[in-house]
Amino acid sequence: MNSDIFSNPQRFADMDAWREEALQLHAAAPVHRIEQPGFRPFWAVIGLDELLEVERQNELFTNEPLPTLASDEALQLQQEANRPQIKTLIHMDDPEHQKYRLLTNDWFKPSSLRSMGHRLEELSDRALATMEQAGGSIDFNKEVAVPYPLDVILAVLGLPEQDYPRMLKFTQELFGATDEDLQPEGYDPAAQAEMIAGFFQYFAELTADRRAHPTGDLATCIANGEIDGAAMPDLETMGYYTIVATAGHDTTSAAMSEGMRLLAAHPEQRELLRRQPDLIPNAVEEMIRFASPVRHFMRTARADTEIAGQPIAKDDWLLLSYPAANVDPRIFEDPLRFDVTRENANRQVAFGYGVHFCLGAHLARLEMQSLFRRLLPRLESVELAGEVTTATASFVSGVKTLPLRYELAAG
Ligand code: HEM
Repeated sequence: MNSDIFSNPQRFADMDAWREEALQLHAAAPVHRIEQPGFRPFWAVIGLDELLEVERQNELFTNEPLPTLASDEALQLQQEANRPQIKTLIHMDDPEHQKYRLLTNDWFKPSSLRSMGHRLEELSDRALATMEQAGGSIDFNKEVAVPYPLDVILAVLGLPEQDYPRMLKFTQELFGATDEDLQPEGYDPAAQAEMIAGFFQYFAELTADRRAHPTGDLATCIANGEIDGAAMPDLETMGYYTIVATAGHDTTSAAMSEGMRLLAAHPEQRELLRRQPDLIPNAVEEMIRFASPVRHFMRTARADTEIAGQPIAKDDWLLLSYPAANVDPRIFEDPLRFDVTRENANRQVAFGYGVHFCLGAHLARLEMQSLFRRLLPRLESVELAGEVTTATASFVSGVKTLPLRYELAAG
């Protein structure tokens, strides 16, 4: 069976149809050879156990040379533009990757993030106030789910709130390159390289400032980071800011909006959560399982091997499909059912696995738990009030507009 659900950005606009097709693929095999015009052939790894098997063997399956899917044309244009590419944690393999990851690993640990708790409560209060002011109808994505995680990233990096518009543009342009609303002129690698250059400038100034005036924020940690006893090289320093700024934003926004969409579509699940708020952490896992906003990462096989009995040749490209693995019917019973009591919801793999496991997973969970803990007791009713749209991008995408009608109980 062949399919364009992995490579065609338009297919991500309708996730119900996308998941149905993923289920058909699951019925056939956990690993598929995909040959689509304009793309180098690759193996789509959709079985959850098989995906973990690939992630676990990070020396056999590497992130280099290309950790995300790119069409032949995009690769050609990038080569012609001939500018330095961003180098971030996800472009690296061990031992280099480990050295870079260690610089900030502790910063994202639950014990370190405890100090963020107060800020998250403030932002959850702000989200509720926004909904109160909107008076019963809102685009939840635009007004709540986009600002909240971006405010968190600014707090994490130690940047002022007035830098919000600049950071918003950066994350949306970087990930929404194939979405016509987010990138009306179409994908233009030269324009993208220019946008990235602007950010390099911004982050270079930040680095100079935090070297001269260190504080306790993550920007200080990155600016003063050393690798093998020497200052981190410029390209890698910029890559570090870039990945924190971008990886933690659109992903979490998409998961928040998907969570709210599911609650609006399933009033009985919402009522259950209102009666039993201790289910919220499990509900958040279930929301993230559905959202799976990181649509894929790529790996390259370094030797002849096999996955699920399927021979894989040295240099073959493999696509890890997180949204497909998260509806693997061998793991999740009735996988298209939203069930906040699902016993194994925390087996979802939306954050990946192994050495590249999402650095911000704990933070993202805390954000969503805080938001829904604050909103749910006040949310008397909520329903969809128009068309829900989803960004058309094959790397990171999710809900783009979420019009809601709702009633809030008196506070
Ligand atoms: C629901 C929200 C999020 C999802 C679904 C998500 C998903 C992912 C995935 C799938 C990976 C790659 C894992 C792998 O290759 O096995 C990843 C890596 C990463 N994420 Fe997240 N992420 C989210 C939120 C965040 C946040 C809030 C931050 C930081 C503030 C963050 C920072 C990172 C970083 C730095 C990496 C690279 C780690 C490495 O390569 O070592 N993410 N994320």
